[in-house]
Amino acid sequence: MMQHPLDKVLLIATAALIPCGICPAQEAKPAPAPQACITVDPGKPGVMVSPTLYGIFFEEINRAGDGGLYAELLQNRSFEDAPDDPRGWTLLKEGNADARIALDKSQPLNPNNPTSLRLEVLNPNNGRAGICNEGFKGRPLDYANLLAAYYEAVKKATAGLYVEAGKDYQVSFYARCGEGFKGPLTVSIEKQDGTVLASCGFTDIGGQWQKHEATLAVSGTDLNACLVVSTRQPGTIWLDMVSLFPKETYQDRANGFRPDLVRMLQAMHPSFLRFPGGCFVEGDSLEEAFRWKRTIGDVAVRPGHWCRWGYRSTDGLGFHEYLLLCEDLVAAPLFVINVGLAHRGVVPMEQIQEWVQDALDAIEYANGPTDSKWGALRAQAGHPAPFHLKTIELGNENGEDREGGFGGTSAQYQERYAAFHTAIKARYPDITLIANNRKVSPVDIVDDHCYVHNPDLLLQRVGQYDGYSRNDPKVYVGEYAVIENCGLGNLKAALAEAAYAIGLERNSDAVVMACYAPLFCRKGWDLWNPNAIVFDARRVYGTPSYHVQALFAAHRPDQLLASAVDKPGVYVLGGKDEKTGQIVLKAVNTGDTPLETTIRIQSAAKLNPKARVITLASDKATDENTLDEPAKVAPVESVCEVVAPEFQYCLKPCSLTIFRIDIAK
Ligand code: AHR
Repeated sequence: MMQHPLDKVLLIATAALIPCGICPAQEAKPAPAPQACITVDPGKPGVMVSPTLYGIFFEEINRAGDGGLYAELLQNRSFEDAPDDPRGWTLLKEGNADARIALDKSQPLNPNNPTSLRLEVLNPNNGRAGICNEGFKGRPLDYANLLAAYYEAVKKATAGLYVEAGKDYQVSFYARCGEGFKGPLTVSIEKQDGTVLASCGFTDIGGQWQKHEATLAVSGTDLNACLVVSTRQPGTIWLDMVSLFPKETYQDRANGFRPDLVRMLQAMHPSFLRFPGGCFVEGDSLEEAFRWKRTIGDVAVRPGHWCRWGYRSTDGLGFHEYLLLCEDLVAAPLFVINVGLAHRGVVPMEQIQEWVQDALDAIEYANGPTDSKWGALRAQAGHPAPFHLKTIELGNENGEDREGGFGGTSAQYQERYAAFHTAIKARYPDITLIANNRKVSPVDIVDDHCYVHNPDLLLQRVGQYDGYSRNDPKVYVGEYAVIENCGLGNLKAALAEAAYAIGLERNSDAVVMACYAPLFCRKGWDLWNPNAIVFDARRVYGTPSYHVQALFAAHRPDQLLASAVDKPGVYVLGGKDEKTGQIVLKAVNTGDTPLETTIRIQSAAKLNPKARVITLASDKATDENTLDEPAKVAPVESVCEVVAPEFQYCLKPCSLTIFRIDIAK
């Protein structure tokens, strides 16, 4: 059994329950002079911290969904991924078999799924012929604007299709055959050398499309397996929706999620989940826009669509599945809807009503009674209870007046925003609507994005909301991250993000929600760098940025306490956790040397001398985690035994330290 990276983090944490408070090298020596002083004053409570402050943002990017969280193991199951080639599938010919494959639109499975694969076995010659899929092994993407470096990264894909001995896999496919094909058609999971790990024969292939299914029990573990559909008989076979899922998905749901990736999200304690994008919602053109109605129902009739991030989205992870994910995470859904604006495309106002209706229907699908049109479909999909969708964002990064009208001009956004806002509020006055910018009105909450090109730039923005007028709209920082000069996501960037999060938290009467972006990346498909969670077919790790997000959510106080620090480069925040009564103190030391610090808790109450301390640090600020070393930069928990109204603590170089201090009873 593979050790889950989070288990490793927990192991490190429990092994590290050591007393501290002075730097180890300084034991038995007189405490060195303090270089900094942090004060927290429990007698001076500040604003309440928004309970929705820490959430997550899922976007279909970097194969976050298809090839990621969505547990389908095969790439291009419906043969729609590319117009001219059966991407992800290769022709397999063994012995002297004579065979060929081609995409075929002559007799579609259904109108939404026009392309199938035709396998013609002209002469098996005592061998076998078929098709083979290696899962989500990366391939160069045909996304015209990709930087050359990204192409290179995508070529370096890691493991493709991972199967584990003793586990069951659910294979399904639609097939029909030409006259004279006698079968059987064999579906097998094989190693690259042809060793068969599981297989099943189907003899009942007929002239009309029919679905076939089987459970395959795999006899060996393999990182680079293939799914092979083959025959030793001559004839022509058409295939579509060839799918392979592990039986073991999160909560064993059909069409479900990878459990390890769900666990990573759960450990982030998100209060909300924004989905499904990002630019993914907009699309480069309107044809690529996310239209939720095309993403529900039987996966075989979901058309899928080209995703702005360089591959086709099956939309097997569709609106219903996103809502299920919110439930799995106990996170409030935040649905981003396209308001008729693509990167390069605008729905004329005369046609906007259909798009507005989509928004109203989305709310009915999520929340409506089971005898309503859309609520009934939700019930039919197995979820009669409402999903409690209460927040919708109207568009993504629209109306910014970017060159060439990219994403819509402010005038175009204003008109469309008004149409959506009026219709939604008229029918659902309690739905909270999020605007992309402040050029529209009225605004409940505005989404500010903050990507910067090096950690120092983010540090300069820690005070961004200090002077923000409390009469202005509440803020949702929907996307933020250091995106350059940070390797593939290093500690230095994560600490800048931690300092920035302190700036958000201390202004949380204005900033009510925030999340890091992007969330996921399948190694080898990294179109965007860095990301919070990186995975391959089998493994997963959180970047240091992931840990910062998870720690801030887990240690969100309910109310601020006055706090200060007298040292530049150190960022602090004090607060109170109402449930435990603890004082929560967060301190980010961006300096690269240990920092002897006086911590002064100006409390009349007695403090418990032992406090929990959680530290995120590493040997170097440039340290990163990798698939091979997933917990190099991970939180370590310890006990500080010297807590008093005034005590000395050595903050590690380049570190985030979180103290949870009990007030003694
Ligand atoms: O997070 C990646 C992208 O950055 C999002 O799709 C978009 O909203 C932003 O520009």
